[in-house]
Amino acid sequence: MEISSYINREVLTLVALALLISASSYYAMLSPGFFFSYQHFHRQDALNNKTEAFVPGDKLEIALRRASMANKTVIISVLNKAYAEEGGMLDLFLRSFRVGEGTQPLIRHLFLVTVDQVAFNRCSTMGLHCYRLVTEGVDFSGEELYMSEGFIKMMWKRTLFLGEVLRRGYSFIFTDMDVLWLRSPFAKLSKEGEDMQFSCDAYNGRPFDESNPINTGFYFAAPGNGTVRLFDEWYAARNRSAGKKEQDVLGEMKAGGAFRRLGMKVRFLDVRHFAGFCRGGGPGEARTMHANCCRTVKAKLDDLTLLLDDWVRYNGTTPESWTQHRACSQSWNAAVVQP
Ligand SMILES: *[C@@H]1O[C@H](CO)[C@@H](O)[C@H](O)[C@H]1NC(C)=O
Ligand SMILES: *[C@@H]1O[C@H](CO)[C@@H](O)[C@H](O)[C@H]1NC(C)=O
Ligand SMILES: *[C@@H]1O[C@H](CO)[C@@H](O)[C@H](O)[C@H]1NC(C)=O
Ligand SMILES: *[C@@H]1O[C@H](CO)[C@@H](O)[C@H](O)[C@H]1NC(C)=O
Repeated sequence: MEISSYINREVLTLVALALLISASSYYAMLSPGFFFSYQHFHRQDALNNKTEAFVPGDKLEIALRRASMANKTVIISVLNKAYAEEGGMLDLFLRSFRVGEGTQPLIRHLFLVTVDQVAFNRCSTMGLHCYRLVTEGVDFSGEELYMSEGFIKMMWKRTLFLGEVLRRGYSFIFTDMDVLWLRSPFAKLSKEGEDMQFSCDAYNGRPFDESNPINTGFYFAAPGNGTVRLFDEWYAARNRSAGKKEQDVLGEMKAGGAFRRLGMKVRFLDVRHFAGFCRGGGPGEARTMHANCCRTVKAKLDDLTLLLDDWVRYNGTTPESWTQHRACSQSWNAAVVQP
């Protein structure tokens, strides 16, 4: 099912209003100078071209090296103030690593990109690898409703950042924080030289069939000419994509043959292993469980908590039926205008 079909008129009206009201800050975002750290990256690139070497004092490089596995792989997620609250999404996410199979040791390879000071502070007190992505003049700290203006801005910002990580020669798994890590995903990620591997909202059984609908809430990317260029093009596409989220833009690029044009090998991951609420059902063989097809943070928290409680209770055995969770499906009701 096409998630964007859930977008309702109210949300669109709100986005339109927000665009009008904050037109100045919106256009500021589109200008190349918007990202303080983005400017920093470019200076660093210029240096790298000359020396081809690690530049001491580059905070990003140091932070990546600290969090990285021996094979230059990190697990990246984005944290804001709303997710960082005690008893919030960050806590639940980390709890899944602790009670998951083979996931506890992966916590030290988590690289949390914090987008506001509150998130950075909370992250730093928890012994995690925290990186402060500095922005000028925009507050990303509130809860961002699906497809709100702030939500879309945050998505684009992470695309820019992740492209930079690839340029530095790191592979990463990007995971949204509303993805529970129940089992280590690495055994179910292919190691046949794929440039990218995407989780999907639905899966047709054919791992290289581009008609599988990608979900950018969980994916693997390896550095290379193709992926670096893809991220450049993806971010550059934001200007002609007003009001679209980056996942949909990437979907369009895929449909336009971008992966093939850039010579990339891209695999689509089975929803049995990289699962989500869109699919329904319990974890089964799932490595990860994404609260996709869900509108609010509260609903995600409620339903993911029920699932993780069951996970702990059943301890690896597959129960007949998992506790019904309805908060996510009901999260659309308040706003969706029924045809
Ligand atoms: C990197 O190392 C980890 C830990 O040994 C392994 O599980 C993972 O598959 C490796 N990643 C890649 C891309 O080879
Ligand atoms: C990547 O691009 C550079 C410069 O264009 C080229 O020298 C190199 O061979 C390319 N690498 C791969 C793996 O295609
Ligand atoms: C996007 O738009 C901004 C402002 O309109 C402009 O400065 C920037 O160059 C544009 N970027 C691309 C990649 O077209
Ligand atoms: C959960 O299962 C594992 C192995 O399957 C077992 O070692 C462990 O004791 C179990 N934990 C609980 C709390 O039952």
